[in-house]
Amino acid sequence: MLKLQNLMVSVSGKKIIKDFNFEFERGKAYAIMGPNGSGKSTLAFAIMGHPAYEVRSQTSDARSPIVFNNHDISEMKPNERAKEGIFLSFQTPLALSGVKVYQLLQLALQGKKDPLQIRKEAQQYAKELGINDDLLVRPLNEGASGGERKKMEVLQAAILDKKLMIFDEVDTGVDVDALKSIAKFLIKHKKDKTYIIITHYNRILHYLKPDHVLIMMDGKIVKVGDRTLAKKVEDEGYKSI
Ligand SMILES: Nc1ncnc2c1ncn2[C@@H]1O[C@H](COP(=O)(O)OP(=O)(O)O)[C@@H](O)[C@H]1O
Ligand SMILES: [Mg+2]
Repeated sequence: MLKLQNLMVSVSGKKIIKDFNFEFERGKAYAIMGPNGSGKSTLAFAIMGHPAYEVRSQTSDARSPIVFNNHDISEMKPNERAKEGIFLSFQTPLALSGVKVYQLLQLALQGKKDPLQIRKEAQQYAKELGINDDLLVRPLNEGASGGERKKMEVLQAAILDKKLMIFDEVDTGVDVDALKSIAKFLIKHKKDKTYIIITHYNRILHYLKPDHVLIMMDGKIVKVGDRTLAKKVEDEGYKSI
């Protein structure tokens, strides 16, 4: 469903992702692991179309670097990519003063769900995730802890209901119980979605059981394996790869 072909990504003139080639399939769950600074978040932003990330093909042939459901999305704006069916949960979810999650979701859904349905779903999902109702009516993430922000990202992901969901370190800074409820929630709502879980820890993968684990180093995939690879990384570090 998502084909990355000779993908090269630069930020502020610095080449971060180099000749990245991989095809993510529909309905599968992938984990991406890699040392700090290896380009995991850059990859996520490039897929989503963040304007600061310059995307190009490493080769001079006509293959487009990012193809989603057979559409070349390399030149699309983030909102157009969202419309195609991609969601990115940020590593560092920001607070939005003056905007409530309902308003944001309503705007993002552009009438696809009515306001009442959005509210009902948000309240249901908040219960499943153990999010305090109060967080739904406050401006988005205002005064929210790191863990609460991550849960709010997951809640928004579920309501937006996209085909490809990328979670960038959704488990970082999250306590054990919160991690369990996030993982359980993601499994329950997965259906035929494709998940890309960027993580440093085997713990969330223990619950989520990804089909494939990709190891990224210095802007490239250096190894692809099954779940045992995540365990090996946790036990032995990246030197072992
Ligand atoms: N906006 C930016 N300007 C300059 N360098 C950046 C920017 N964003 C990321 N980088 C650099 O790109 C590299 C990869 O960063 P990142 O994708 O965040 O890594 P990861 O998520 O794997 O830890 C790092 O060296 C980082 O400093
Ligand atoms: Mg990162």
